[in-house]
Amino acid sequence: MTKSILIIGGAGYIGPVITSELLGAGYDVGCLDLFLYQNQPCVVPFLSNPKYRFTYGDMRDRGALDRALEGVTDVVLLAGLVGDPITAKHPDIARAVNDEGVRSSLDYLVGKGLDKVVFVSTCSNYGLIESDELADETFPLSPLSLYAKSKVAAEEHLMAKKNVADYSATILRFATAFGLAPRTRFDLTVNEFTRELALGRELLVFDAHTWRPYCHVRDFARLIRAVLEAPREKVAFEVFNAGGEANNLTKQMIVDTVLAAIPDGKVRYKDHGSDPRNYRVSFRKVRETLGFEPSFTVRDGVEELLSAMRAHVFDRVEQDRNFHGNYEIEYPVP
Ligand SMILES: NC(=O)c1ccc[n+]([C@@H]2O[C@H](COP(=O)([O-])OP(=O)(O)OC[C@H]3O[C@@H](n4cnc5c(N)ncnc54)[C@H](O)[C@@H]3O)[C@@H](O)[C@H]2O)c1
Repeated sequence: MTKSILIIGGAGYIGPVITSELLGAGYDVGCLDLFLYQNQPCVVPFLSNPKYRFTYGDMRDRGALDRALEGVTDVVLLAGLVGDPITAKHPDIARAVNDEGVRSSLDYLVGKGLDKVVFVSTCSNYGLIESDELADETFPLSPLSLYAKSKVAAEEHLMAKKNVADYSATILRFATAFGLAPRTRFDLTVNEFTRELALGRELLVFDAHTWRPYCHVRDFARLIRAVLEAPREKVAFEVFNAGGEANNLTKQMIVDTVLAAIPDGKVRYKDHGSDPRNYRVSFRKVRETLGFEPSFTVRDGVEELLSAMRAHVFDRVEQDRNFHGNYEIEYPVP
């Protein structure tokens, strides 16, 4: 039977890239989304594809979720308020969506005859690691933001379904995304640094020595497909860090990568910024279990962004600020 995969929150930055990957592999793909960032254009290219189905709505609306779930075999859950800044700005909405909304949706999916449910979490769950240690999936979690706290709570909620749910659940702790997509977000480190320096602006970098893992959106899409195609016993109720060690980088290393392409870029450094996250991550499990290795380096991402900028693809980022970043929301959506 052909898989029919519903991506909840599939119209944002990463969702459309996963959609292309899965449609390209011959699967049916559905999307449930409410366009929190006026991101309607992201689904337009798919609408004429008979293997694609879009449902407008909030995942917390059972009617909308039921409609979106018709004929579906697998679910990928991306929806929510994404990132520390937007959740700090709207803590009540973040709790309603990222805690209650996600948990009740995961509950609601039980008994629906689904094969796999993939929940996308974040490496931000590791918070601040003082040592040189690489965090593997068993490393103690210490989420610092409301955003990461909700992800940790959702992970626990999902793992507790191990002997209860009929679906096989997999948690992917994504590194920070970069790279081109229909909704390229410029509020994320690699994309932001590249754009600011390419525009000739002075880039202010906080805590340049802090480490984090990064991963290209197209690599994330390949990984989602790999999980959906993996034998159930390899991924059922497993947590995987999603990325590759080669893309564990300090902010300084990212700056240097961009400066290699824009040597006259201006950078100012400051310590003690508001975001103390610092973590290096082990991706051994995803490599050894699923054979997953990212194919794009941060340098590849910087180059493709610069080439798109030179071609005037991103001339309207300032005017369409909210389309290119998670800044403002109206919720519930009118
Ligand atoms: N982008 C990253 O660097 C990154 C890193 C780690 C983890 N992740 C995770 O990956 C997932 C996707 O991230 P993204 O960058 O594409 O985010 P995004 O903000 O671009 O997309 C989120 C989408 O979810 C939709 N949405 C929000 N609330 C909804 C609701 N109640 N019902 C239906 N749809 C809703 C939004 O309209 C949006 O289209 C998220 O779960 C995020 O936490 C992202």
